[in-house]
Amino acid sequence: MTLMPTISFAKFSAPKKGVAIVLAGEGGTLGDAAAACDPARVLTRAFSVAEFSGKSGSAVEVLAPEGSPLDRLVAVGAGKTEELNDYAWLKLGGTIAAQVRKAGEVTVVVDLAGTRVAAADAARLAAGIVLRSYSFDKYKTRKDEADGNGKETSAKPAKITIQCADPTAAKKVFAETQAVTDGVMLARDLVNEPANVLGPLEFAARAKELEKLGVKVEVLTEREMKKLGMGALLGVAQGSTRPPRLVVMQWNGGKAKDKPVAFVGKGVVFDSGGVSIKPASGMEDMKGDMGGAAAVTGLMHALAARKAKVNAVGIIGCVENMVDGNAQRPGDIVTSMSGQTIEVLNTDAEGRLVLADALWYCNDRFQPKFMVDLATLTGAIMVALGQNYAGLFSNDDDLAANLTSAGQVSQERVWRMPMGPEYDKMIDSKNADMKNIGGRHGGSITAAQFLKRFVKDTPWAHLDIAGTAMGAQANEINQSWGSGFGVRLLDQLVRDHYEG
Ligand code: BES
Ligand code: MN
Ligand code: ZN
Repeated sequence: MTLMPTISFAKFSAPKKGVAIVLAGEGGTLGDAAAACDPARVLTRAFSVAEFSGKSGSAVEVLAPEGSPLDRLVAVGAGKTEELNDYAWLKLGGTIAAQVRKAGEVTVVVDLAGTRVAAADAARLAAGIVLRSYSFDKYKTRKDEADGNGKETSAKPAKITIQCADPTAAKKVFAETQAVTDGVMLARDLVNEPANVLGPLEFAARAKELEKLGVKVEVLTEREMKKLGMGALLGVAQGSTRPPRLVVMQWNGGKAKDKPVAFVGKGVVFDSGGVSIKPASGMEDMKGDMGGAAAVTGLMHALAARKAKVNAVGIIGCVENMVDGNAQRPGDIVTSMSGQTIEVLNTDAEGRLVLADALWYCNDRFQPKFMVDLATLTGAIMVALGQNYAGLFSNDDDLAANLTSAGQVSQERVWRMPMGPEYDKMIDSKNADMKNIGGRHGGSITAAQFLKRFVKDTPWAHLDIAGTAMGAQANEINQSWGSGFGVRLLDQLVRDHYEG
């Protein structure tokens, strides 16, 4: 298991053991509490040798001198004080976590020359440490292989003490932040988990665990979905020996009469492509084709754990897309819950089929204030945007603007893409109401147009997270293949616009 550090908060006092990590502002300036950790001034001397200027993300490390009770002293650059926004504090925590390495006891002195650090910022820094420390290593039976010596070590989690001006307040904020970081790590775990372990039933069971937090969780079986007429979702599932599940999560933290906000996730636990089979190379990545469902589950965890004052619904369609004698064929026509018929021209365009029924069901049952769906829907979104922005498609300018600003704050960024009747026409079918692919061009847009046919006039946004949910570059706060993308973004959205 990941050796997550334990984190506590304390007042300033010179650390007596282990590793001390201090913040340095622009020009390499240390606050008083930070300077007190370094009476012999070895750090400040090292600054000039290492040409360290306190630039954000940089660090200088020295071994503690003779006579010091410490092992190492590290200064981490905090950059310009006026640029220290929410995300910068999170990133700073990540940079600090990278400096912890194998230290047992670590003291982080959150002190900046001339500026009092807010308790909330110290808490964000702590959250950054947690997010950066996550790694998916539960299947590594020999720990610490990074050493290359093949020996087992009895690595223990680091004990990190964060010294700050108001530890009591910081601790309180951190508890709330923890709700969100736990949600992110839950989403990462789900995405990283291989498909032999996490099938639709197992996914549903993981979602069911949210009941402990006060989330109401219903799991619809294949029979129940048949009764509801979910022919689109069931068509995808029919090639797998593992039956599908639709999971409905409800967190009711708002006023009883308030309409809920709703989040819908694509939960394809493995996408082989079906009969329109994918090439072998890279197919293993399709264990992460449930990144949307993972984000929705992680978000519901976050909202419930921090007791958000909102009514929220999370719906995930968990299915496996397999090749089989009973799998659906190209050319098959299925009837969705909406009554609309779909000609399945490519069985690899399965995510939209799952979402068609999940979105319709969500809208029909809950009449939500809005629906946001998340899906690793198209390879084309990576061609368009790379892996640093998710594609945003929406029928509602306000919702799109709110998502865009939440993306800026959380730095889980989204970029709005166009929609319109010309694109919609591309999925008209000769033999049914629509077909599930739109031709060579604008693949992410035609996929979004398809979804739009299942949301009526409800404000809706679709996030294509194929590029961001998995396999994106590691960064200050994430080193894992599954990123947990979407949890912090949507928590921010709810926080800023739909709570209270
Ligand atoms: N799950 C894939 C999209 C995907 C690709 C996600 C790569 C993450 C990484 C989706 O189901 C799919 O196969 N889409 C097809 C659609 C096509 C058949 C119209 C695609 O993108 O090629
Ligand atoms: Mn597919
Ligand atoms: Zn897929």
